[in-house]
Amino acid sequence: MTQLHSSPTVASEPIRLNIGCGESRRRGYIGVDARPDKGTDVIAPAWDLSHWPAGSIDEIYCRHTLEHLDPGDARRTLLAWRDALKPGGLVHLIVPDLLFHARQILGEVTSWDDDPERNFEHAIKSLYGWRAECRGGDGEDAHRWGYTEASLTELLRACGFVDIRRVQGGEDSEPWHLNVKCVRPA
Ligand SMILES: C[S@@+](CC[C@H](N)C(=O)[O-])C[C@H]1O[C@@H](n2cnc3c(N)ncnc32)[C@H](O)[C@@H]1O
Repeated sequence: MTQLHSSPTVASEPIRLNIGCGESRRRGYIGVDARPDKGTDVIAPAWDLSHWPAGSIDEIYCRHTLEHLDPGDARRTLLAWRDALKPGGLVHLIVPDLLFHARQILGEVTSWDDDPERNFEHAIKSLYGWRAECRGGDGEDAHRWGYTEASLTELLRACGFVDIRRVQGGEDSEPWHLNVKCVRPA
């Protein structure tokens, strides 16, 4: 783990992490990523929260990153998050909705573009990763697993989270985003 910038929060403020931040900065959140990028404050794999004491984190936001982990690493990551969060602490996860993209490949649904070729391309990249555009390669840009609402809910439940709910409405609530919140039990 490497700290690139000092934390944007002070001791009395809530600790909020944006894990797999990439180039995006989220106001009030500490950016964590396996690679240095515009949004990164701390370089660390998603499962390594040793930078913070156990039970000290208020919120973990993680957009389009869990699917980049092998399933064993995803489970290990969620268990690490559970232990790092305060009781009642929030996880906000966004991953591609595997069922939406399966239906998209079959031509049953379209996302932002009705053009069949671009619609197919969106589905394939959501399954396997936006490798070419995202810093040109494989490695951390590859998707290593996929989730349906049912499988993600079951994984979160098995890792000890409760109050698991799909976010309806607002940012990233289009049907191709599987946008889920859950909490560490109080
Ligand atoms: C598709 S980008 C998402 C970036 C940003 N969250 C967003 O929504 O625009 C996936 C990010 O996950 C990061 N990543 C991939 N594997 C990771 C890992 N094992 N630990 C931490 N970050 C990882 C990549 O470096 C990349 O920045």
